[in-house]
Amino acid sequence: MAASWTVLPAEGALLEEVAAIEAATFGPSAWGRGDVLAAPGAPGALCLCVLDRGQRVAGYLFATLVADDLHINTLAVRPDCRRRGVAEALALALLERGRAAGAALCSLEVRASNRGAVALYRKLGFAAAGRRPRFYRAPDEDALILNLRLESDGRSAAEDAGTGN
Ligand SMILES: CC(C)(COP(=O)(O)OP(=O)(O)OC[C@H]1O[C@@H](n2cnc3c(N)ncnc32)[C@H](O)[C@@H]1OP(=O)(O)O)[C@@H](O)C(=O)NCCC(=O)NCCS
Repeated sequence: MAASWTVLPAEGALLEEVAAIEAATFGPSAWGRGDVLAAPGAPGALCLCVLDRGQRVAGYLFATLVADDLHINTLAVRPDCRRRGVAEALALALLERGRAAGAALCSLEVRASNRGAVALYRKLGFAAAGRRPRFYRAPDEDALILNLRLESDGRSAAEDAGTGN
């Protein structure tokens, strides 16, 4: 369950582990090590991670809050930690922190063929908002734009539906 994971800021030495997972997950499209290490210092950055029992990074989520738009930039979970609620815990923690900071919308792009990620975001209440043709390279692919409007009382649709905890 998502509730069993503790979500922490991704900082310091943890960023080296994040960079390694990012490279292994996204290959030629991955953020470089320098981009990962610099990300928490960017304006509006929200960089989160979850540790496994061995205190190693199991997954991470990097986002940026610009005005009231909380944009998810990158998210990955180590293959051996998947389907155990890590990404869901990260996303719910992000939404909580984002709305506390004034976010009205959470947005992201995802490869159209990425069924697992699309299923994750749909479970959280995200809805399709458009498509960016050939947004991705290696291989070329369209991006789906997904949005989640955050409720004015600070709760997301997913939490109101009872999927968050
Ligand atoms: C997508 C990804 C982040 C999901 O991480 P995860 O920790 O395994 O996801 P969770 O265990 O929190 O799953 C939460 C829900 O998402 C959906 N989901 C996650 N992975 C899924 C998959 N492979 N197939 C179908 N549904 C999936 C399910 O609804 C799941 O709920 P359930 O387990 O109760 O059915 C992970 O597979 C990953 O790192 N993939 C490679 C990188 C990537 O695609 N990043 C996203 C870019 S936008």
